[in-house]
Amino acid sequence: MTGPLNEAVAEANYVQVTLTDGRVLELPWFWVRDHGHDEDSRDPETLQRRVDTATLDLDLGAGRVELAPNGSHLTVSWSDGGPDTVLDGAWLAALGRDPAPRTVWSGDLDLPEPADCATLMADGQVLAGWLDDLHRLGFGLIDRVPPTEDGAQQIADRLGYARRTIFGDVWELAADVTGHADTAYGTAFIGPHTDSTYNHDAPGYQLFVCAERDGTGGESIVVDGLGLWERLGEADAGAADMLSSVVVPGRYVDEGVDLLAERPAFRLDDQGRFVQVSLNNYDREGFLLPPAQLRSFYEAWQLALELAADESHWIETGLEPGQALLIDNWRVLHARRAYTGRRRFWGCYLNREDLESTARVVSR
Ligand SMILES: [Fe+2]
Repeated sequence: MTGPLNEAVAEANYVQVTLTDGRVLELPWFWVRDHGHDEDSRDPETLQRRVDTATLDLDLGAGRVELAPNGSHLTVSWSDGGPDTVLDGAWLAALGRDPAPRTVWSGDLDLPEPADCATLMADGQVLAGWLDDLHRLGFGLIDRVPPTEDGAQQIADRLGYARRTIFGDVWELAADVTGHADTAYGTAFIGPHTDSTYNHDAPGYQLFVCAERDGTGGESIVVDGLGLWERLGEADAGAADMLSSVVVPGRYVDEGVDLLAERPAFRLDDQGRFVQVSLNNYDREGFLLPPAQLRSFYEAWQLALELAADESHWIETGLEPGQALLIDNWRVLHARRAYTGRRRFWGCYLNREDLESTARVVSR
């Protein structure tokens, strides 16, 4: 058996499929008919569904199952005379597989090896490995990047595309850049935060390419938001409940702009697993709760800020011209040391789904 399917047994209400990796799936008959990979079930060109799910018979009787001898797919024929349904084994095996693990890290993490920019742009395998590490850690480094707007654009185009925001597509970040009402355009220390709490769909990733650097300070700092979530739960489960349920608004106001969005500081999925951290005290907008609850919220928020400010969990890197840092803005908080002298970056935001799409394509 070379394919991913080992055995398929027809039961009254479902087919039980055993995969070669040992997992067992129970697939109800109506679900099987809804997910065929044959031409009657799915357009072979667009890969879009042709099954009319609105009229799908949920009491569909058992089908007759035939497993391909090499385990690559299974074919189900139906007693109601409908066309056979073919299910692809690799597709089935990918369903319900655990997502790739992520490493919770702290200040003692060794910085990941920077990828060479030209190699990363040209070699899909190298890019796939680098994107695996990015998924695992929530940030990644690149060196020998052209320290120009075009250098940032090139990386954005390879990973997805620069997302246009109120700051533009690829933007310049330096103390002498005017026209944006934001602490990023200054020289002061900026504490750990995530960007764009005022966007309903905060950018999944943020790229910084260092173009110019002299003087002192200005190190970029990253803090693991997944680790922060775990530390918060260990320190105070009630605070973790509060910060994963109370929606906190973020707001950005500038000439002709008034952006406002809200979500919990820690957004979880329906299984209670961490999805996204949104922590930005600079951009937090006022909101009210009943007074007793408001006090609990402030206690929880202060605890989260205190844990995020614990430098033993920070990773610091002083980027030099030609070095780039890509940060998962849903997973990792970033901060910046105060600095003197010149410090100029090119940067952009990327949508989460576009980078994930590239990761899937290059890892095929
Ligand atoms: Fe930021």
